[in-house]
Amino acid sequence: MTDASFEPLFTARRSVRAYLPHPLPDDLLRQVLVQARRAPSGANLQPGSFIHVRGAVRAALSADLVEAWRDGREAPEDYSYFPKPMPHTLRRRQVAAAQALYGALGVARDDRAGRDAQFERNFRFFGAPVALIVTMPHDMGSGCYMDLGMTLYGLMLAAQGKGLATCAIGALASYPNLIRSHLGLDASSHIVCGMALGYADPDAPVNQTQTTRCDLDEYFKVVG
Ligand SMILES: Cc1cc2nc3c(=O)[nH]c(=O)nc-3n(C[C@H](O)[C@H](O)[C@H](O)COP(=O)(O)O)c2cc1C
Repeated sequence: MTDASFEPLFTARRSVRAYLPHPLPDDLLRQVLVQARRAPSGANLQPGSFIHVRGAVRAALSADLVEAWRDGREAPEDYSYFPKPMPHTLRRRQVAAAQALYGALGVARDDRAGRDAQFERNFRFFGAPVALIVTMPHDMGSGCYMDLGMTLYGLMLAAQGKGLATCAIGALASYPNLIRSHLGLDASSHIVCGMALGYADPDAPVNQTQTTRCDLDEYFKVVG
């Protein structure tokens, strides 16, 4: 195996927020998950689970999530994703990512309705044929979130290798109780995020979103 075989996977993967309606064969989904689970984890604990939400359950879940969000409902989160307050350097990166997204969509900075319409798509899993909810037992240590993150990236790359596309959806972690009630989960399962998976719509402007990364010097230094 050479660097050349992986390079295209790393560079071609990006978050895809519009999908073709083609269904995904169950077997293909299972293959992606099995490959993702090859990710390493501390003591090989392999923490976290994936729930494939389908049919009427998915429709009802999305409808309730959209309603909660439109109502401006605030709900306690299972875990804190972002630093509060957001430091300036990170805020700049967040703004740049938002500009890349809304720029691709042609949504202006002051177009609240346009931004809201895009945000709402989070709760519909961007129309992807596969909607996953990612969970973690409530009593796991912080390190286990590292392990699960590796599995999530493994899932993204495994999907990419099979001609599929993905988008992680942290926005879903805003309403953990609502999600648990739809999926029949109790409070022992933390809702980590969602994941959209399917075939990218190549013509959707939103899929032209292109993000950058900070310079190596900003996150790497040599000592000694
Ligand atoms: C754990 C996680 C949660 C994310 N949540 C969302 C989300 O809720 N909505 C969204 O549109 N994108 C979400 N993203 C996508 C990020 O915005 C995206 O990864 C980042 O801007 C870099 O762009 P790229 O994935 O295209 O390289 C999430 C990504 C990760 C890894």
